[in-house]
Amino acid sequence: MQQKITRDGFASKFGVLVAAAGSAVGLGNLWRFPYMVGENGGSAFLLIYLFFMIVLCLPVLIAEFVIGRRAQRDVIDAFNVLAPRSAWKGIGIAGLCAALVILGFYCVVGGWTLAYIGKSIFSLPTTLPGDYYAGTFTSLITSPVQPLVWCALFIALNAFVVSSGVKNGIERYSKILMPILFVMIVVLAIRAITLDSDMKGLRFLFQPDFSKVTGATFLAALGQAFFSLSIGMGAMITYGSYIPKDSHLVKTSIGVMSTDMLFSLLAGLAVIPAVFAFGISPAQGPGLVFVIFPEIFSKMPMGYVLEILFFTLLAIAALTSSISLFEVLVAWLVDAKKLSRRVAMACVTVVVGVLSILASLSLGMLPNISLFGKNLFNFFDSFSSNILLPLGGLFICLFVGWRMKPADVRDELTNSGNIRLPLFGCFRFILRYITPIAIAVIFASGMGWLQI
Ligand code: PHE
Repeated sequence: MQQKITRDGFASKFGVLVAAAGSAVGLGNLWRFPYMVGENGGSAFLLIYLFFMIVLCLPVLIAEFVIGRRAQRDVIDAFNVLAPRSAWKGIGIAGLCAALVILGFYCVVGGWTLAYIGKSIFSLPTTLPGDYYAGTFTSLITSPVQPLVWCALFIALNAFVVSSGVKNGIERYSKILMPILFVMIVVLAIRAITLDSDMKGLRFLFQPDFSKVTGATFLAALGQAFFSLSIGMGAMITYGSYIPKDSHLVKTSIGVMSTDMLFSLLAGLAVIPAVFAFGISPAQGPGLVFVIFPEIFSKMPMGYVLEILFFTLLAIAALTSSISLFEVLVAWLVDAKKLSRRVAMACVTVVVGVLSILASLSLGMLPNISLFGKNLFNFFDSFSSNILLPLGGLFICLFVGWRMKPADVRDELTNSGNIRLPLFGCFRFILRYITPIAIAVIFASGMGWLQI
């Protein structure tokens, strides 16, 4: 296998795990998951999400790592190397587009998190009327300049980390930031549960009610699972290409998936019980954590400090994820277009900047910027999670299951025969049949093409 000696990579196995988990854990878990659970009726959505994570997403994650580490290339060249002159590289092209679409709204929300750090530092520790918080959120996201300035700052932070490279940038920062994040969210979850004295929130989260479940709920849960695990668009192919040859891909994948699920659960536990404790509707949409948390903090002892901590945590989580999205695009420009990391990052910054400006303005100043009846922000969000990622995941499974040589796949999974892998046949069967068919059925029923 052709390999570039100078290629940057992760320095340690722990670094790999932390960086990949850092990519997975982000706004998807802490901002998107709670409001999706709230909008989709709670426990049933949560259970379907957890089930999909284990049964469908884990095989896709392993498949992405296999492709990445085998090819040692960026997301497009990986397919060129493993399947020369074939249409499979379309998966890579779709992945690059998905990275841009996701970054187009992700950086806007990343900007909101920074804005809220600022707001929480300068907020007055007094009790304000209930609608004050919703009003503050709406006025932030609809203002013409403020969200753009914060978004620019968020993109600048990304540029700083990504242009420092894999070992010095991504790995170093993820290693410090992820554990801090974990401790913070555990503290918040404990606090929220103790607030929820009559356990309404916990019942909403854990007492299954399948009566409102539709095909759209399944697709939403699948999209959420893909989004929160960063799969279906090549982020994990790119990170896979930096994984050392002695890392255990299956164990790493299980570690990343468990960490990601844990964070989503903790985020649900930190948000939903608190929402019920204060008698607020859980179906608030994208504003949920931004509207609810400041209000909750204002009614809590030490709320001032906790609020600053929480939004810092959210911003850190967003950053360790968005750098992996930028990295997909930067790695391609560096590997395939031979640009330096800095120039590559500058090019990507310009494109993402324009998309983010349009997405942000579509929430306020320019509501006419819409596609398929949705403002651009919501369109980017649902188009990526419900369409691009599941379809990307489906083709990634087909590629590893049908196109890659079984011997090559086995070689990657066993580190050239150095580790045992008892269920290889079973894994291959899942990749060839179960996962692609399941994704196709969920996709078709979610789009309303299939009645089940
Ligand atoms: N998983 C990230 C999150 O939860 C988002 C993401 C999606 C990152 C796809 C990379 C690729 O916030």
